Amino acid sequence: MSSNNTEQTYWWKYGVVYHIYPQSFMDSDEDGFGDLKGIIQKLDYLVSLGIDAVWLSPIYPSPMVDSGYDITDYKNINPLYGNIDDFMQLLAQAHSRGLKVIMDLVLNHTSDQHPWFLESRSSKNNPKRGWYIWEPPKLGKKPNNWMTNFGQSAWTYDSFTNEYYYHSFFKEQPDLNWRNSELRSEMYDVIRFWLELGVDGFRLDVINLIFKDKHLRKNPIGFLLSKKKVYNRNRPSVCEVLTEFRSILDEYPHKTSVGEIYSPPPGDPDLTARFQGNGSDMLHMAFDFSAFFSRWSAKAYYEMIKNYYQALPKDGWPCFVFSNHDLGRSTNRWMFSFYKIEKAKVRAMLLLTLKGTPFIYYGDEIGMENVNISRSQIHDMYGKLFYPFYKGRDAYRTPMQWNSQINAGFSKTRPWLPVHKNYKTINVENEEGRRDSILSLYRGLIQLRKKYTILQYGDFEFIDSGNPKVLSYRRYFENKSIVVILNFSNNSEKVEISGLRDYSYLYSISDLDNCDDTLSDILVLKAFEGFILSSK
Ligand code: GLC
Ligand code: MG
Repeated sequence: MSSNNTEQTYWWKYGVVYHIYPQSFMDSDEDGFGDLKGIIQKLDYLVSLGIDAVWLSPIYPSPMVDSGYDITDYKNINPLYGNIDDFMQLLAQAHSRGLKVIMDLVLNHTSDQHPWFLESRSSKNNPKRGWYIWEPPKLGKKPNNWMTNFGQSAWTYDSFTNEYYYHSFFKEQPDLNWRNSELRSEMYDVIRFWLELGVDGFRLDVINLIFKDKHLRKNPIGFLLSKKKVYNRNRPSVCEVLTEFRSILDEYPHKTSVGEIYSPPPGDPDLTARFQGNGSDMLHMAFDFSAFFSRWSAKAYYEMIKNYYQALPKDGWPCFVFSNHDLGRSTNRWMFSFYKIEKAKVRAMLLLTLKGTPFIYYGDEIGMENVNISRSQIHDMYGKLFYPFYKGRDAYRTPMQWNSQINAGFSKTRPWLPVHKNYKTINVENEEGRRDSILSLYRGLIQLRKKYTILQYGDFEFIDSGNPKVLSYRRYFENKSIVVILNFSNNSEKVEISGLRDYSYLYSISDLDNCDDTLSDILVLKAFEGFILSSK
């Protein structure tokens, strides 16, 4: 376990990943958009935070209909962010600081402006016709009832050749046809391209969507006449591609992957697990979204974690994520968000002590919140289309709050999205100076996770503390163990755990100063308190 080699190979298991939304991290050239040079400027901050890897949302050339999740060139960099030299700089600078870089890869679809699609649509016998999913009208109508994620038809008619093409998302994002072997090998080439440049892994966008039923079977009707997405996702062939993908990755040392396997509330850990194969032949990790949908209670979190661990294949590795660019910041997850800071701290301690790779969404480590976006400020196309019923995803893609200067230190120019008005207090500089800040807690916990490697690879078991408002668990390896006790409630709570007298305090959310050195089996936790105890 302690050999250097194992640590190198399994950095993705034992490390902490930080998700950067490139438009909003740091603007170096004063155009109001974050960029690669901006990220380079902030690498030392990331090192000081103690994280091990960054995952960058897509940075490829794109008309930005879906913020870069609509790609026109898989082997280049969006000029908004810089160029390939800047990227090589970023990679070198990150690596020299011991940080890994994970790229976001969108294999399911391209932009409708991608040269492949322009060719594909140009004629029925174009060599790239089969790279996308084209169907003739069925009795003058759409080929079937499949819908996009926002409930519109997933088929768009193209008068050029009088056929429909399929798109899981916007019509500007035509889906690729993974049954086409040329497309497949082209994409594998893209993967090798980045691996050869030295990237350390990939986050695979909506990877469970890449195959749709060959026979185009109709989806059954579900709740409120919506169509249950049975036939246009989660097809068994996805696993076949993932196996091929994994064997390419395994040709290179120390690479990793994490798949986005979305399923609607309450989430579906069994589905997530399916794409991890036996644990070493498909995805290294897969995001399970039940963590986003859990109610705020120790019991609900207990169920969520238990179900997730149980669903994993024997050698499958878990990962946890609480916020992202699609579903919002966990700070504002619960209606009437009382105790926002307190809950953010409990979540931080949970995230960094569970078994599984923690993913931190930029800004969560300082407690950034969703921003109220007015109609004229909306960028996200979903917000433009569905306002005021749905305002889109801009609220949680806003500029990183670095300090209390203009635009929170993100840019000297007006940023592409407004900065939260709380930036004078919620910012890195301010929180760095405060021992009781969310940032100090994140830093402390990340350091602790580094120092006590049981928190990285130790086994996991729940402990029954006799109090349902408190979540407690043990991480253990050989004869050492660490106990974590988290009070989810806004009252002080008592727990009783036998054997605690053999432990000592390692860390707490509030402060250890008031803690007695000797522990007994009965402990009282203040509201939203969390303790980490270590066996002697
Ligand atoms: C993923 C991305 C999301 C994007 C969608 C389509 O869910 O995270 O931002 O809109 O895929 O590519
Ligand atoms: Mg810029």
